[in-house]
Amino acid sequence: MNRNIACIGAGYIGGPTMAVIAQKNPDRKVIVADISQARIDAWNSDDLPIYEPGLQEVVASCRGKNLFFTTDVAAAIRECDIIFVGVNTPTKTFGAGAGYASNLQYWEAAARTILKEANGDKIVVEKSTLPVRTADSMAAVLHTHREYTFTVLSNPEFLAEGSAINDLLNPDRVLIGGPQDEQGKAAIDALVQVYATWVSRDRILTTNVWSSEMSKLAANAMLAQRISSINAFSALCEETGADITEVANVLGMDHRIGKYFLKAGPGFGGSCFKKDVLNLVYLCRSYGLHACADYWEQVVIMNDAQQERIVERTVKALFNTLAGKRMALFGFAFKANTGDTRETPALTVANLLAEEHADLVVTDPKALENAAKDLAHLPKVTFEPDPYLAATNVDAILVMTEWDCYKTLDWKQIYANMRQPALIFDTRNILDHAELKQIGFKVLAVGKII
Ligand code: NAD
Ligand code: UDX
Repeated sequence: MNRNIACIGAGYIGGPTMAVIAQKNPDRKVIVADISQARIDAWNSDDLPIYEPGLQEVVASCRGKNLFFTTDVAAAIRECDIIFVGVNTPTKTFGAGAGYASNLQYWEAAARTILKEANGDKIVVEKSTLPVRTADSMAAVLHTHREYTFTVLSNPEFLAEGSAINDLLNPDRVLIGGPQDEQGKAAIDALVQVYATWVSRDRILTTNVWSSEMSKLAANAMLAQRISSINAFSALCEETGADITEVANVLGMDHRIGKYFLKAGPGFGGSCFKKDVLNLVYLCRSYGLHACADYWEQVVIMNDAQQERIVERTVKALFNTLAGKRMALFGFAFKANTGDTRETPALTVANLLAEEHADLVVTDPKALENAAKDLAHLPKVTFEPDPYLAATNVDAILVMTEWDCYKTLDWKQIYANMRQPALIFDTRNILDHAELKQIGFKVLAVGKII
């Protein structure tokens, strides 16, 4: 076996992950292959297809040396004996399981390309997030080859967007699941060697394949559940006068609860949490575990309700009508430090505001291009990179993304150029509410009465 590494899929996962692997393994050739010419062209340019702090520097340090981006998927498979599969696995929108199950068509196409192009034994590594027991299906596809042996490993990725490079360089853990026979253990060991160049051995966990696939779904479900739990309390805080930031602080100081993932807000967005929790719901249902399925589905239901509540409160604060009013959305990315808008709460809120016949102005430092695509169906929306211009003549501002640049704006100036009475809804609790109130704003925030 050679030491070269290929990755099928040059997206948010494939690109950054392979860039860090290449940087930390200068003696290995790393080829990232994708069917999208536009994506590959962007990876080969100075304008990378995704924004991620520190990514440009890592790519620049090894692209053209031992890191390559190509559309020639077949050649990448032939040249490399370790093949990661990092293709998209979105929620199915059709047929059985629509709205819940993962759409595995891209993943199966990748498996079939490996089968067709392989020129020797290969280690195939699932990097995409997949339903438990998918490795079985991948093995079933690959084992139809009589000449060569394929060992399927599960190596889910835990990085979060916006901090991908830091998460890859300093992971809490790297998880590798594989078959427990001789061949499986040798393959696991080969993959451990890739990560051991920068991750300490005690942080590299090896398990059976099913535990690995399950752990990824479980980790995302537990994190999403924490957000829905704190958001459920935020609604109750608004009714009772408790302050969600104070409550979260108290909870976080209990070391058994821990302080992370307790920020109330407009609910979780991003390409993973909703998709993976719904996939888990589908998995539970398909095993007849209906109480488990209902439990996890409630996490998504709570998340949707939080976004609806934000719009309901906005309508109420603006005298029960938004028709003809101008509303500025500050931030459209699903979180700060990314241009990704997949499943962003801002999209749901924008759609609900548009249903009330509001005119929208959207501003965001990195996500305006994606926002324009996401909102192309709305008749009355404009896009403005400058937040001061975005806020001019609007009735209300909804802060949807916790970008640092919004914390240092001159809110007095913004207030002066707004229609009166001016409303600001800080859905992320990042601003100084007392100061805003003093300036004259009517202030709404998630989980507090101001
Ligand atoms: P993405 O859509 O950004 O990238 C997937 C890429 O795969 C696309 O560029 C697409 O063109 C390519 N592709 C699809 N079919 C192909 C084929 N047959 N051959 C070659 N290329 C093909 O998706 P992503 O955000 O990178 O997510 C990929 C997987 O990683 C998903 O399963 C996701 O759940 C998982 N994951 C994502 C994150 C994240 O932060 N985005 C984190 C952990 C896990
Ligand atoms: C998530 C997981 O964290 C990561 O481990 C996995 O690999 C992919 O899915 P990501 O979706 O990129 O990562 O970002 P994350 O930081 O988890 O945030 C997800 C959403 O939850 C964002 O919309 C964020 O704003 C929201 N969130 C997060 C909260 O509302 N409150 C919090 O306390 C934390």
